Amino acid sequence: MTEEKKQNYYIGLMSGTSLDGIDAALCEIDAEGCTLVGGLTYPMPSGLRKRIVGMITAGEGSLHEIGMLDREIGMIFARAANALLEKLGVFREEVRAIGSHGQTLWHAPEGTVPMTMQLGDPSTIAALTGITTVADFRRKDIALGGQGAPLVPAFHRFVFGLLDEKSAVVNIGGIANITMLGEKTIGYDTGCGNVLMDSWISRHRSLPYDGDGAWAREGKVDDALLERMLDDPYFALPFPKSTGREYFNPAWLDGYLDGLEIVPADVQATLLELTARTIADEALRHDAARLVLCGGGARNGALVARIAALTPARVETSGEHGVSIDFMEAMAFAWLAYKRLRNEKIALSSVTGAREDTILGGVYE
Ligand SMILES: Nc1ncnc2c1ncn2[C@@H]1O[C@H](COP(=O)(O)OP(=O)(O)O)[C@@H](O)[C@H]1O
Ligand SMILES: [Mg+2]
Repeated sequence: MTEEKKQNYYIGLMSGTSLDGIDAALCEIDAEGCTLVGGLTYPMPSGLRKRIVGMITAGEGSLHEIGMLDREIGMIFARAANALLEKLGVFREEVRAIGSHGQTLWHAPEGTVPMTMQLGDPSTIAALTGITTVADFRRKDIALGGQGAPLVPAFHRFVFGLLDEKSAVVNIGGIANITMLGEKTIGYDTGCGNVLMDSWISRHRSLPYDGDGAWAREGKVDDALLERMLDDPYFALPFPKSTGREYFNPAWLDGYLDGLEIVPADVQATLLELTARTIADEALRHDAARLVLCGGGARNGALVARIAALTPARVETSGEHGVSIDFMEAMAFAWLAYKRLRNEKIALSSVTGAREDTILGGVYE
């Protein structure tokens, strides 16, 4: 490997609403492209996960608890980066920077004081890895009147270009988002991805997720519940829009289940249908001819089959286009770090509704 190549190494760190683990991706990046050298998912320790979910569910926490979580998430993110370097046999000196998303605790881009909060102290990451860390990617966009989310559409545009007319990228994490790769990039959160299915199977079967949608396949869609949920105001909101676990959570589901007698497997089938329908509806709205799926939900065969059945679009995975299904989002944060160190603006105002495109992120040496 040449010295020049080593200078192009960046690590992206991402943990999304699923809270399944920290995705760490080592990427080689230049103006032409972003290549995944290697990645790993560092499991989120269950105690930490419980505290984060508990705080989001309660919508509150003590100042001390928030401060501790910030540092502890920083430590676990650093551990993920260090484990990746060890796995790949790469030295920290070879990495220009880490781009860390942090863990979203609260995302409220609407209201009198729009805000978004990601924890995972970047100074801690920089100190424990010895690598310059770029973080806080969302708040400048919020400060400029934008949603602060989703950010991945800019990266989808960078790696896929236009692909061809009428192509969309759909990232199915805890929350799902769609990117239309038209002349002007459009992107927004379609609503729930896996988060409701995950919490339902966790409640009834103590499993973290419904592998390949096997449990959902055993049930049958309950039309009354589906219609109720589809009437939720989020789905009717015009874009730009973004959401999170503070909205799509077990309490949201319980509200719609109220007064209905449905066996658990049928609820799971209905939740899978809800995710498929709300994604397919947005693809239809933009007349998408091709859907490129990524994120953990792209590994749910039952979900992918329902999306394919509900839209005339060709349904593919990002893997078929040479971009990892599992590490796409972490790669995006490696690329955002690269862009920040070059002081380059990210073209996202057409996605988030911010007043202007801007430089995103803060640098922690
Ligand atoms: N084999 C699979 N079958 C079904 N669902 C899966 C599978 N693998 C991953 N998932 C889903 O993907 C989620 C993780 O997706 P991810 O893209 O990491 O989301 P996030 O960005 O919210 O962390 C898991 O919680 C699970 O719901
Ligand atoms: Mg994840």
